[in-house]
Amino acid sequence: MASSAENPKQSVPVIGAAPEGAVDRQQAAAKVREMFTSIAPRYDLLNHVLSMQVDRLWWRRTARTFGHVLRRNDAMVLDLCCGTGDMTAALLARAQKSGATPRIVGADFSHAMLQRATIKSIGKPLRWMEADALNLPLPDGTFDLVTTAFGFRNLADYDAGLREIYRVLKNGGELGILDFGEPKGVVGAVYRTYFRFVLPAVGTMISGIKGPYKYLPASVARFPAPEEMLKRMRAAGFSEVSWSPHTLGIAGLYWGKKG
Ligand SMILES: C[S@@+](CC[C@H](N)C(=O)[O-])C[C@H]1O[C@@H](n2cnc3c(N)ncnc32)[C@H](O)[C@@H]1O
Repeated sequence: MASSAENPKQSVPVIGAAPEGAVDRQQAAAKVREMFTSIAPRYDLLNHVLSMQVDRLWWRRTARTFGHVLRRNDAMVLDLCCGTGDMTAALLARAQKSGATPRIVGADFSHAMLQRATIKSIGKPLRWMEADALNLPLPDGTFDLVTTAFGFRNLADYDAGLREIYRVLKNGGELGILDFGEPKGVVGAVYRTYFRFVLPAVGTMISGIKGPYKYLPASVARFPAPEEMLKRMRAAGFSEVSWSPHTLGIAGLYWGKKG
């Protein structure tokens, strides 16, 4: 077997998102950041068009799942890879429904995405932080809840991402990862056709940029299947892990608990 010293490409294996041309974790992360920064001005429009507005239901459903945390005034909540902040806003809306005022922070490493999140949330009690999910500038044991919607799949190292989330959670804190799945059967066949052909074509047409909408289906295909992902969550230390499919498995929510 070739050692990593003999093959420099293997020295830092990409065990996460792998945009075209990236040979290591640093390059993968840089390309992902560049990609999201380039589509930031059209991100919301594209998201709603391409998901046919179902994204809103998924964010709301995820927030509802964590209603028991969000109804606590003393809860500390982090929405990781928050992008333009729609998942973050759904968490706030859920908290406000129960009259609670937890502290909710959205974090992302794309400045352009965060700028849009900031503008969209003027007047709302949300905080934003420019930070890399693989190296959060936050102390251990800070949060009662960490969510991440359609962001985790883009991390350059899934295991490192899970370990970092585990680190910043308090004991008993919860994790929710909402991301795309790969449904089986007829639904899967229709979905794959849409995802691989229609979505890149429409995405490229509206954004005028080719790369990101080619990357999207590739990143979903590369993302571990639920059983594998649950194994990784357990290995990172999470307990009571589960996955619940949304909309016939097109998306799904991973849930786990620290301690
Ligand atoms: C598909 S968007 C999802 C945005 C939002 N959560 C949503 O549901 O619409 C993925 C986001 O993850 C962010 N991201 C990817 N890797 C990251 C990392 N290592 N650290 C912080 N943010 C990251 C990107 O900048 C992008 O804004």
